[in-house]
Amino acid sequence: MTPYAVLAAVLAALCASPALAAPSPATDGKALFAAKGCQACHGEAGAKPIAGSPVIAGQNAIYLARQMTEIADGTRTSAPVKVMKPIIEKTTPDERKALAEWLSTQKPADPQTGDKAKAEQGAELFDENGCIGCHGADGLKPLADYPFLAAQRKDYLMIQIKAIRDEIRSTRRTRMMTANVRKFSDAQVEQVAEFLSQTKRK
Ligand code: HEC
Ligand code: HEC
Repeated sequence: MTPYAVLAAVLAALCASPALAAPSPATDGKALFAAKGCQACHGEAGAKPIAGSPVIAGQNAIYLARQMTEIADGTRTSAPVKVMKPIIEKTTPDERKALAEWLSTQKPADPQTGDKAKAEQGAELFDENGCIGCHGADGLKPLADYPFLAAQRKDYLMIQIKAIRDEIRSTRRTRMMTANVRKFSDAQVEQVAEFLSQTKRK
C-alpha cells in the first residue's frame, strides 16, 4: 500500500466509527448535563437535587428551556437563581434545547415523605384555589408548556410559591397565577408544598 492509500484507509475507518457518528455535544443533552456541572446541584439525571434546588427530571421540555433562557437573561429574578445564572449564561439556545429535551425524558423523582395532616390541608387548598385549572389534578397534568408540580422538592416549592405571591419571581407567565396564591399565609404555602411533594408522579 502507498502511504496515501494507508491514510485513505484510516480516514475511511474513522468516518465509519461510532465516535464520529455520535451526536455532536451541542445536541447531546446528557453529555452537556455532565460537562456543564448541572449535576452538582440538580443531582443525577436531574432527579436528586440538593436542598433548595428543583427536580428537573421528567419536567416539560418547553417549560425547562424557557426557564433556562429566562434565568440566563435575567427575566426570572429571585435570590436563589443567582447561583446558576453564571453557568446557564454560558450555554447557547441549541444547548439549552438539548438539555431540556433530554431532561424531560428522564425519570421523575420519587415522592417525598412528610407531614400527612398538612398534606391533606394542602390538597384542599390546591382544589379550592384553582390550581387544578392550569397544573391539573394533584399537579400531575399541566396545560401544554406549564410545569408539573407533583413530587417536586418541598423546600423549592415553598420558595417559589412565596416568590410568586410576593412578586419576586414575576414574569408574564407567573403573573397569571399571582391572584391564586396572593391570599396564602406562609403556613398555607407549607401545606400546599407538603401535599405536592408527597404526590407520586404517574
Ligand atoms: C450551583 C447550583 C446549580 C447549578 C450548578 C445549576 N443549577 Fe439549575 N437551579 C439551581 C437553583 C438553586 C434553582 C432554583 C432557583 C430559584 O429558586 O428560583 C435552579 C433552577 C433551574 C431550572 C428551573 C426549574 C424550574 O422548575 O423552574 C432549570 C431548568 C435548571 N435549573 C437547569 C439547570 C441546568 C441545565 C444546569 C446546568 C447547565 C443547572 N441548572 C445548573 C441551582 C443550580
Ligand atoms: C392561570 C394558570 C395558573 C394557575 C391557576 C396556577 N398556576 Fe402555577 N404556574 C402557572 C404557570 C404558567 C407557571 C410557569 C411560569 C413560567 O413559565 O415562568 C406556574 C408555575 C408554578 C410554580 C413554579 C414551578 C417551578 O417548577 O418552578 C408553582 C410552585 C406553582 N405554579 C404553584 C401553583 C399553585 C399552588 C396554584 C394554586 C394556588 C397555581 N400554581 C395556580 C400557571 C398557573
